[in-house]
Amino acid sequence: IKRVRTRHLVDAKARGEKWAMLTAYDTMTARIFDKEGIPALLVGDSAANVVYGYDSSLPVEVDELLPLVKAVVRSTRRSLVVADLPFGSYEAGPEQALATAVRFMKAGAQAVKLEGGRRMAAQIRALVDAGIPVMGHVGFTPQSEHSLGGYRVQGRSDAAEEVAADARAVQEAGAFAVVLEMVTGSVAETVTKELAIPTVGIGAGNSTDAQVLVWQDMAGMGDGRTPKFVKRFANVGEELARAARDYADEVRTGAFPAAEHTFD
Ligand code: KIV
Ligand code: NA
Repeated sequence: IKRVRTRHLVDAKARGEKWAMLTAYDTMTARIFDKEGIPALLVGDSAANVVYGYDSSLPVEVDELLPLVKAVVRSTRRSLVVADLPFGSYEAGPEQALATAVRFMKAGAQAVKLEGGRRMAAQIRALVDAGIPVMGHVGFTPQSEHSLGGYRVQGRSDAAEEVAADARAVQEAGAFAVVLEMVTGSVAETVTKELAIPTVGIGAGNSTDAQVLVWQDMAGMGDGRTPKFVKRFANVGEELARAARDYADEVRTGAFPAAEHTFD
């Protein structure tokens, strides 16, 4: 089995092949997604919410994400593993961005992702120059939630050109792909047609080259409050709740463990 490389994802765009990306934060789920042929896995800073229980992505630290990257890398053989640079670990400038990205690459990541278009072009360029593949992220960028005024669709009416200019800057800085988050379907379509690198949509409609979702959202692991753009492909949370309930019941009644679970 050969590892997916960034060039494979870029080439897929030229062939008009769409691909799916999922987040992963631990070794067992990563193994499943890798075996199913998901070409790219993101160790997202969404771990802040879905692993660590913070109520935004802002508090999570590099030192909290590095072990998750290592866990995901250990169980994957084929999927390209992308590590998210968390808030505060790259904005100060290219040197800070490079120092942080190097830590993730040494942990086994094969690319990094960071948020911001024109304002992060120098950071993207520095990483690319150092041999680190970069995935950009424009449109709604959760780490700037407070300056964007909350979770809001970006690129409506006159702001469309802002999103396009950011995506263009990411490509020009040398990124191999760019996430478009919560932008209108028409902005995503225009940007996808204009760029040579693949666009990875989340809440960006159906015309991007790829899609990404947080696995707990798409698998129904959360409490049910998911954004409009999420589709639930399973109800893993309900299934896990049922297993925990049945296990506890059987312990109480003495049905578990049975003879077949007992050493003689
Ligand atoms: O952190 C994350 O999970 C992300 C994706 C959803 C794009 O950045
Ligand atoms: Na993220």
